[in-house]
Amino acid sequence: MTKSSTPGRASALKGLIQSPALEFLLEAHNGLSARIVEEAGFKGIWASGLSIAASLGVRDANEASWTQVIEVAEFMADAVEIPILLDGDTGYGDFNSVRRLVRKLSQRRIAGVCLEDKCFPKQNSFIRGSRQPLASVEEFVGKIKAAKDAPADSDFCVVARVEALIAGWGHDEALLRANAYADAGADAILIHSARSEPGEILAFQREFQSRIPVIIVPTKYYTTPTEVFREAGVSMAIWANHMMRAALQSMQKLAARIHAEENLLSAEAQVAPMSEVFRLQGESELEEAEKRYLPGSKHQAKGVILAASRGHELGELTADRPKCMLPLGGRAVIKRIVETYRQAGIRDVAVVRGYCKQMVVLDGVEFFDNDAYATTQEVGSLLAARAALKGALVLSYGDVLFQRHVIDALCAVTDDFVIAVDPAWRLSKNVQGRPADLVQASRPSSRQSFLVKTTLLTFPTSSVEAAQRQATGPKIDGEWIGVMKTSATGTVRLLQTLDALAAKGVNVLQLRLPEVLAELIANGQEIRVIYNSGAWIDVDSVDDLYLDDDF
Ligand code: SPV
Ligand code: MG
Repeated sequence: MTKSSTPGRASALKGLIQSPALEFLLEAHNGLSARIVEEAGFKGIWASGLSIAASLGVRDANEASWTQVIEVAEFMADAVEIPILLDGDTGYGDFNSVRRLVRKLSQRRIAGVCLEDKCFPKQNSFIRGSRQPLASVEEFVGKIKAAKDAPADSDFCVVARVEALIAGWGHDEALLRANAYADAGADAILIHSARSEPGEILAFQREFQSRIPVIIVPTKYYTTPTEVFREAGVSMAIWANHMMRAALQSMQKLAARIHAEENLLSAEAQVAPMSEVFRLQGESELEEAEKRYLPGSKHQAKGVILAASRGHELGELTADRPKCMLPLGGRAVIKRIVETYRQAGIRDVAVVRGYCKQMVVLDGVEFFDNDAYATTQEVGSLLAARAALKGALVLSYGDVLFQRHVIDALCAVTDDFVIAVDPAWRLSKNVQGRPADLVQASRPSSRQSFLVKTTLLTFPTSSVEAAQRQATGPKIDGEWIGVMKTSATGTVRLLQTLDALAAKGVNVLQLRLPEVLAELIANGQEIRVIYNSGAWIDVDSVDDLYLDDDF
């Protein structure tokens, strides 16, 4: 996903800080919560040290290293477009650590950092706040200057956080520090308080007069109406840890429920649907990107297996089930075929059933039914799956087993029509049995066919014709194994060709695929031949069912 670069984000944060209106940041602590905050409409994010530590299961006491914290912040920056203000604690060391921190944050598209005037390692301000030592004004001023001078985006924001009120050092000390930090070049002062009412914050604000913008964190004085802050001229309010606390509480409740009930029945209604998880992860963008960046990839192709026929040649064996459901080495033939598609990376597979369709049981495929299987041919089955005939396709039959590299080979070329041809056609028993789909190609199989494109010339429709041709001149170059690929364009052309034939009065449902390929050639379509020897078998005799399980 394209994300805006640092300058846009840093100046966006600066704009929020400097805007005359009261602005708000909501806490987030990882990529997911950041995205949710952005979707809710917030213009910026507080990457809370407390929340990041808590979600990592450690204390807000610099137990997570600064590189671990900015790793989390980087995931957040990747997940959103809005600016992120990172809670940088004390800067994880001296002025030198601060310089390096700012540089790294800017590189990772974080818009600003908030530095607090305590000592490293710090503790959360709400834990023994009054006992935590403060840094000297001079030392912290040096850190602010170092942060502002660090090589970073020119709008990178440095927020100086005054802890004097929390530490119990009083109003005057807070003012003195805020003025010193403003003089040092801070972009804003974050004045923090652990009181449950806003009195000391408002007193500070009255005196400081927003010399530079003032940011507050009303975690403890949350009952104060927001209007009060607005009227006081506060620049920004940070809702500092509420995403983490919301997640924590709902996880506690859910864990207890699932533990007690030992099932997910009532839990399901308490959690976001899986689709929401995928949406927030941007799954749809990845799907779109695959379409853009994996054109013609085998993963883009859909498998279509025509498996409607009974297989009369197998006699009684197919009395109660179609041929494709006969077991071969313990697994139904079609199951093996579907596995081959999956191994080749084709996830979407459509199967056209017909004879004894209720017997064709397979997981994870899309079924189409050719109920007229007894009176139609291959195209009848193909068109039964018309809804699936979109994009690139690998087409095959429910009784042809082949090795996955056949699919790899067909998908490796970008031609609109590609067929797999076995040059060892003389070995094929089909020549003596049912008509084999013998082909004549532009060149015979040879070492050169690896380098030079071979195309289909003619597709004799019967083995008798083929045999005659063989005897009288034109050579037969092989046998189509019954597996072909069409590109997305090829699929459209295939359907157009069938529609055009139907418009001319041809009963296309009675056509076999070789006849359609012949028609395509007649219309000037090039059909590429990929030679592949012995990588397949057509199951059409009882003998074929006793193959080695290693097949
Ligand atoms: C944080 O969110 O980590 C803060 C704000 O620093 S507070 O927890 O209020 O100190
Ligand atoms: Mg913090």
